[in-house]
Amino acid sequence: MNGLESAGNRVCGIGLAGCGTVGMGVVRTLARNGALIRQRLAADVTLEVKKILVRDLAKHRSGEVAPELFTRDWQAVVEDPAVSVVVELIGGTDLAFTIVARALELGKPVVTGNKALLAERGEELFGLSRKYNTPIHFEAAVAGGIPIIKSVREAFVGNRITAMTGIINGTSNYILQRMAEAGLDFQSALAEAQQLGYAEADPTLDVNGWDAAHKAILLATLAYGFPIATESVHVLGIQQVKPIDIEFAKQLGYVVKLLAVIREHSEGAVEIRLQPSFVSRSHILASVNGVFNAVAVHGDAVGDAVFYGRGAGQDPTASAVVADLVEAASACGAEGKHRGFLPWSEGGSLVPIEDTETAYYVRFDVTDRLGVIAEIAQVLAAAKIGISGTHSPVNPEDPEAAFVDMVFLLHRCPYGTLQQALKKIEALDCVNSPPVVFRIEVL
Ligand code: NAP
Ligand code: HSE
Repeated sequence: MNGLESAGNRVCGIGLAGCGTVGMGVVRTLARNGALIRQRLAADVTLEVKKILVRDLAKHRSGEVAPELFTRDWQAVVEDPAVSVVVELIGGTDLAFTIVARALELGKPVVTGNKALLAERGEELFGLSRKYNTPIHFEAAVAGGIPIIKSVREAFVGNRITAMTGIINGTSNYILQRMAEAGLDFQSALAEAQQLGYAEADPTLDVNGWDAAHKAILLATLAYGFPIATESVHVLGIQQVKPIDIEFAKQLGYVVKLLAVIREHSEGAVEIRLQPSFVSRSHILASVNGVFNAVAVHGDAVGDAVFYGRGAGQDPTASAVVADLVEAASACGAEGKHRGFLPWSEGGSLVPIEDTETAYYVRFDVTDRLGVIAEIAQVLAAAKIGISGTHSPVNPEDPEAAFVDMVFLLHRCPYGTLQQALKKIEALDCVNSPPVVFRIEVL
């Protein structure tokens, strides 16, 4: 019976690929709240984990889960007739792709928290989802425990979504806050985030902005319906953020956030970008700290709505996975068109990053000698970029230092114009390394 037992008291067999931070959270949530979930479901369905895929069997001998459930053989999980729904929580885009593709081929609904997989290979997978009439659920892939996928897809289905702005990487938000408040250096703050289970297996994706970019791509695809090529999205991470930036932002009434900006321009083109940004301290997103995420959505009917919650970690993410599991299990065995997401628009285009406009904070690492500011200002003036302020903080331990950070605040201009000017400035012999650029956002 494909994992479903007698009608009226069905068992929906789950094949769990991955039992790390999130997978274990799913096992525990089902154990803790299984009876409650059953009571809440209109259909009487019991969710039961039948098989678990892991890499290292020795790691899973605590006794918390029956040892016979574990296997290193992915096919034994996906192809087990007792498994009706496949939950992919191993991460990565290779084996994860194989698992999801095979599950869809077998007509088994998939639940995944893998934003990298869907952003990089979503077009192929949603193609299979369409072909085999089998849904992919992915609430956990964006903003952890916040139900933003369901909200955009269902609650806001009657809206034209004009903008979504978000803090959607818990690790980098946690790092920025710990640097700002506890004075931690970047590496110590990252180590804490890893310890707490927030970071990806390879934390490079968290700090280089790509984890958030994958999520932004998914949000934009949900709102605008067309697949978005990862290489067309402009992404800068937080690796270059220094305490001086955070301090400087503070003095000016801003906080530094890794911000995802998604905006529909009037001509139907969509702007998507990820970049460390100055956000006014009075804006609601400025108070989103630690592992918390927030997504501000603007719909033409609903106006402004803000979603806030834990964006990573075991329990919040398991909460989203279990919600999807319940949806998949409820529909399991039912005939008809599946209710999962499928891209619905063939058109759509991205606004070239060069054409996007904001004000900017730019930090230059310069050799401090007579005329430095004038040399930089000259290039900016020739490019018709206005300067609203400059600052060169003095290091109290070495006030005569030859190498200093020099900050310029710049008026709004197209990013392409700024880039061209910065190339010329970088070529000046007083400038020692590529300038670091933050957007100053008006939200
Ligand atoms: P994790 O702690 O590293 O766990 C990964 C699990 O997958 C482990 O059980 C591991 O086995 C297993 N695994 C990995 N590669 C495998 C392979 N080649 N063959 C068999 N098993 C393999 O990862 P996680 O933090 O739970 O994240 C899982 C997914 O959820 C990722 O896609 C991530 O992006 C997403 N996600 C995570 C969070 C979060 O807060 N952590 C939030 C939202 C979404 P072993 O146990 O034997 O090592
Ligand atoms: N590493 C991710 C984060 C997990 O820190 O937000 C949630 O997707």
